[in-house]
Amino acid sequence: FYGAVINPTSLTAYSAFPRSLLAVGPTGNIEWIIAEVLPHQLQDELVQRGCLSEHLVELKDGEFLIPGFIDTHTHAPQVPNMGTGQQYELLDWLEKVTFPTEAKFSDLEFAQRTYQKVVRQFIDAGTTTCCYYGTLHLEATKVLADIVHSYGQRAFVGKCNMNRESPHYYVEPSTSSSLADTRALITHVRSLPSGPSPQAASNEPLVQPILTPRFAISCTSDLLASLGEIASSDPTLRIQTHISENPQEVKYTKHLFPDANSYTDVYDKHGLLNKHTILAHAVHLEADEVELIRKRGAGISHCPTSNFNLRSGVAPVGVFLDKGIKVGLGTDVSGGFSHSILTAIQHASMASKVLSFHLPSPTVVPSLPASFANRHLPIPTLFYLATMGGASVCGLDAHIGSFAPGKAFDALLVTVKNGTGATSVHLDEEHKEKKLDEWLERFLFCGDDRNIERVYVQGRLVGGCTFTPAKPLNP
Ligand code: GUN
Ligand code: FE
Repeated sequence: FYGAVINPTSLTAYSAFPRSLLAVGPTGNIEWIIAEVLPHQLQDELVQRGCLSEHLVELKDGEFLIPGFIDTHTHAPQVPNMGTGQQYELLDWLEKVTFPTEAKFSDLEFAQRTYQKVVRQFIDAGTTTCCYYGTLHLEATKVLADIVHSYGQRAFVGKCNMNRESPHYYVEPSTSSSLADTRALITHVRSLPSGPSPQAASNEPLVQPILTPRFAISCTSDLLASLGEIASSDPTLRIQTHISENPQEVKYTKHLFPDANSYTDVYDKHGLLNKHTILAHAVHLEADEVELIRKRGAGISHCPTSNFNLRSGVAPVGVFLDKGIKVGLGTDVSGGFSHSILTAIQHASMASKVLSFHLPSPTVVPSLPASFANRHLPIPTLFYLATMGGASVCGLDAHIGSFAPGKAFDALLVTVKNGTGATSVHLDEEHKEKKLDEWLERFLFCGDDRNIERVYVQGRLVGGCTFTPAKPLNP
């Protein structure tokens, strides 16, 4: 690839070069990147490095590459509900909107039809890695994993554990069946073929299973303990769950687990809080819970769209970042009404600005805040959360989240010159570096699927608005 490359480098910085040369090898990993190659040097550079010019993708004006987005928390079976039920808060919303829809996935034909559209939507929105909750159904969740796998997205796919405090028509009949189905899903996902790039797969296949106790309320103590045992005997297995999203939920959790010191302690006591745990929301944590999460090395999925929409609150992301806790972004469909990480970025910015209202302006030095708590998050930090932050939450920071030799080429080819809301009007050719800053900010705040021309996962073109699958990608 030859052209503009914008690459996150830390919580407070990204690099932006208008004329980079980036090479992807046969396994889909990045082989090398040259930050700046002048046009008259290009042919020599290609010849010297043994590249065939017919393989070169030259980016046009207004186009740039960024690493793919990482959605650390979403519910595939709730996509049919997006944009409805916004009058409710969490517990009523689950009962009246969410559980009735999820129950429909007992119908495998419905699951197949729906999940095909859902996964296509997430990929074309630029989500190259996605942490999916399925439903409680084993078979439907296998279908979800099969579709994700055949479409070439990188993902964690989990079957919800919920053996109590759920409606009679949507609850697992027993602890033992919940565990048996969980084990069966793990086996199924791990038996999916490693795909076109087996060398690149190593011990991190594109699609992986993930333990998914829905939340503490919906699981008995013996179920949580058994899931904790599975986790401890399987050290690469990730865990995802919800935590401290809504005040009534927190109160009811404490009522159900009177022996636990806190909501976080419920997961900790059951062996479910470790460096592979992804905790969604974390809006109402106490200080000792934040400290426990830090100590265990768990990560937090910040879901601001959902937190606003269900009136859950505003998560103190700056406090987590100051403590060195891993943070990524989640769409939390359909608590959140958008499947796009761009919306999560926009709302993460708004959420941080809401928390900064009490501070005198300006509240932040854009390039390097001394502390993030109660300050608005600058663009490099938002970009980091959507990419590198998500990668660290998923335990994949060595493989994805930014462009570097040896990392997978999970990337978006974006344009801001196609007449959409994100279209850049900056005409000042003198200040090319500044121009890329403007392109990125416009895309993050005004962009949508129409700006994402191509989506690559592990070097393979899998989506984007200019993509048409060569043949139907049925599992
Ligand atoms: N807590 C338990 N289940 C859910 C869910 O489906 N969505 C959200 N936002 N919170 C939950
Ligand atoms: Fe959720």
